Amino acid sequence: MTSKSLIYGHRGVPVKFPENSLAGFAYAISQHIDGLEFDVHLTKDHIPVIMHDEKINRTTDGMGAIADYTFAEIRQFTLANGEPVPSLAEFLELVSGEPVHLNLEFKTDKHYYQGIERIVLGMIRQTDLVYPVVFSSFNLKSLQRGHDLDPTQKYAFLSSARIGDPEGFAATEHLEGLHLEHYQTMHHVAERVWTVDDPDELRQLFDKQVSAVITDNFELARDVRAAV
Ligand code: G3P
Ligand code: MG
Repeated sequence: MTSKSLIYGHRGVPVKFPENSLAGFAYAISQHIDGLEFDVHLTKDHIPVIMHDEKINRTTDGMGAIADYTFAEIRQFTLANGEPVPSLAEFLELVSGEPVHLNLEFKTDKHYYQGIERIVLGMIRQTDLVYPVVFSSFNLKSLQRGHDLDPTQKYAFLSSARIGDPEGFAATEHLEGLHLEHYQTMHHVAERVWTVDDPDELRQLFDKQVSAVITDNFELARDVRAAV
């Protein structure tokens, strides 16, 4: 039996390239990865950029909060491979027309970027994408705002806790899926599980045919899936 579960690269391919780097995304696409998960914030002048943390300290040669820099200012800082902080526009140019599933995470749980959903959805709608984007967030309000702006897109709540009635919750909140840190069985809601790097855990999830796993090492996950 071949598992139908898709494999998404968590922040690209962090085992080989800086996380959330264009180099990592480009490599993954060249290797025909199923999907990419990436994180989006807004600069001070409302330009979407791709990074995990709210501050640039850990992943660039600079310091400070993304929200305190203009796009021109933040572009002076580089990732460990020398590339500037990627913009969403650059990322969309890279993936345009490519058969890759996208999971765009609104990073609005620690700092809320006013207007991020409208700006990002506008850019997505202008891009030639092969598959609908799955928008995820730990902040349910971002998903509600996204759904209000464009109900045709997919919205999935990132949960690190068990939800009592996952299907009822998803229906009430207009969610297409739940992205789970801890797996719980559902049947009508898409289940994408993060961040899974252990071969035994991957095997179990592929056996269960979850909708997707989100992993730091897509090549390892692909080997495991091929053997299921
Ligand atoms: O989407 C799964 C995962 O990316 C959520 O956590 O902190 O890695 O963005 P985090
Ligand atoms: Mg993320």
